[in-house]
Amino acid sequence: MNELIKKAAKDIAGARSVVALTGAGISVDSGIPPFRGKGGVWEKIDPDYADIDRFMRDPADVWNVLIKDMKELIDRATPNDGHKGLATLEELGKLHTVITQNVDGLHQMAGNKDVIEFHGSFAWQRCMACEKKCKTSDIDLSEIPPRCECGGIYRPEVIFFGEMIPHDALFRSREIASQCDVMLVVGTSAIVHPAAIMPVVAKQSGAKIIEINPERTPLTGNTSDYLIMGKAGQVMNGIIDELKRLNG
Ligand code: OAD
Repeated sequence: MNELIKKAAKDIAGARSVVALTGAGISVDSGIPPFRGKGGVWEKIDPDYADIDRFMRDPADVWNVLIKDMKELIDRATPNDGHKGLATLEELGKLHTVITQNVDGLHQMAGNKDVIEFHGSFAWQRCMACEKKCKTSDIDLSEIPPRCECGGIYRPEVIFFGEMIPHDALFRSREIASQCDVMLVVGTSAIVHPAAIMPVVAKQSGAKIIEINPERTPLTGNTSDYLIMGKAGQVMNGIIDELKRLNG
């Protein structure tokens, strides 16, 4: 792993533009479980709960089973060394954009300025009747589903399965992926599309793809140039230390 960390630091040091694509794995050490794999949300809950049809059919059930718990976990979470490492890469003038599938806001909390929230943001709710937006922290959860003063039901401003990715997020991500020369793919199983095509777009445009994940993914061994097998925080700490050493 150490050799690969040194290699990654060298690749980043020599890059003009580095972009990161992140997934649930980067927030695991902040206490937010991933969706898939051991300890994942879908081990306990049917993934159908993340489907927009299910939400529309029975919003109270989806709020009770999935969204309320998510709110509690996100409320408590703070950035870990993985998020902080990406923020440091931005400070060092290397990383310019984070494309994240996460809705927890931890990249912004860590200090990254340009974050594309590919699957929306849990920080906001939208009334399904009058479209009014409300901060999730201001929502009254004494009644489930929570309601707007107009009587409409609130939904989180996140993308459910079966919904389109916002045009701007999709368009900008593709553009940025096609322009970077290194893409760090951190903590994603890389199986949910269209987010998972971003490393392919970057690769086809000539970028080097570096994966950071304790497990192999469908990108490993083909789209990605190499996989640094480890936890996001630990690996990012190693990369930052090595980069600082290279910069003297
Ligand atoms: P997944 O839960 O599918 O994958 C998490 C990945 O993180 C796995 O590859 C793990 O091996 C890895 N991982 C676990 N712990 C880690 C750690 N400490 N450091 C680094 N990596 C670690 O999460 P995503 O790929 O983000 O979409 O899932 C994509 C989308 O599927 C989510 O955005 C969500 C979900 O359904 C929607 O809700 C639309």
